[in-house]
Amino acid sequence: MEVVIADSVEQVGAVAAAKVAAVCRAATRRRGAPPVLGVATGSSPLGLYEHLAAMVSAGDLDLTDASAFALDEYVGLPREHPQSYAQVIARTVTEPLGLAPDRVHVPDGTAADPEAASREYEERIRNAGGIDVQILGIGANGHIGFNEPGSSFSSRTRIKYLTERTREDNRRFFDSLDEVPTHCLTQGLGTIMDARELVLVAQGTGKAAAVAAMVEGPVSARCPASLIQFHRFATIVIDADAASGLQDAEYHRSVFDHKPDWQRWDR
Ligand code: GLP
Repeated sequence: MEVVIADSVEQVGAVAAAKVAAVCRAATRRRGAPPVLGVATGSSPLGLYEHLAAMVSAGDLDLTDASAFALDEYVGLPREHPQSYAQVIARTVTEPLGLAPDRVHVPDGTAADPEAASREYEERIRNAGGIDVQILGIGANGHIGFNEPGSSFSSRTRIKYLTERTREDNRRFFDSLDEVPTHCLTQGLGTIMDARELVLVAQGTGKAAAVAAMVEGPVSARCPASLIQFHRFATIVIDADAASGLQDAEYHRSVFDHKPDWQRWDR
């Protein structure tokens, strides 16, 4: 796990995008095939997506024919609901990055048989050759995707309930708490750990406790993100506020001390 403390929220997006782009280029070189991205919703990765979109526009990153798999989806929201993750991913990822909509996959939260839909989603990921780089945020309670505390470390895509904490956190996107769905389909922790690289971004003091538990805490189902300590290629990019709960922050330092050549991560 490589932890990079960026100097600003803006720099979190820039550094994380540079890493994602580097992995995409390496994946294309290695496999001779377009990259497969894992994409997250939430506010945390928005800066990362903006920087990636700028690289695509500038011709620095080729995502033609790239495909993408979303981490999760609410159960019970129609696909056309503005807060369904199908719509959120279309607005924040598919359109800005110029991806072909038919190559962007989101679990089907409207499926009559969620278990079959989950199995089918796993199969689609496998058929695509697996995920080259999974972009992640982290919930205030340490969830990744919608794998809430207590989730099995080897879980695959499945239906899960949302904790009250998460429903409260996501209430801001809805008119009332009652409208926030109670269930979701989410890639499992095992699915996420299968991605060849992970890039997790977090900003703000609201994430400080979760980040500390993920990076320095015991690996425990109480903080699902702590499982990432076992991933071979995980990069955590955070700002000083999100890093404020770390006891050993000096190991990670500012991005310029730590990795002066981060913009050339892949060259
Ligand atoms: C959401 C998503 C996660 C996301 C997390 C944090 O509910 N399911 O994928 O990482 O919670 O969201 P935010 O980045 O808005 O704080």
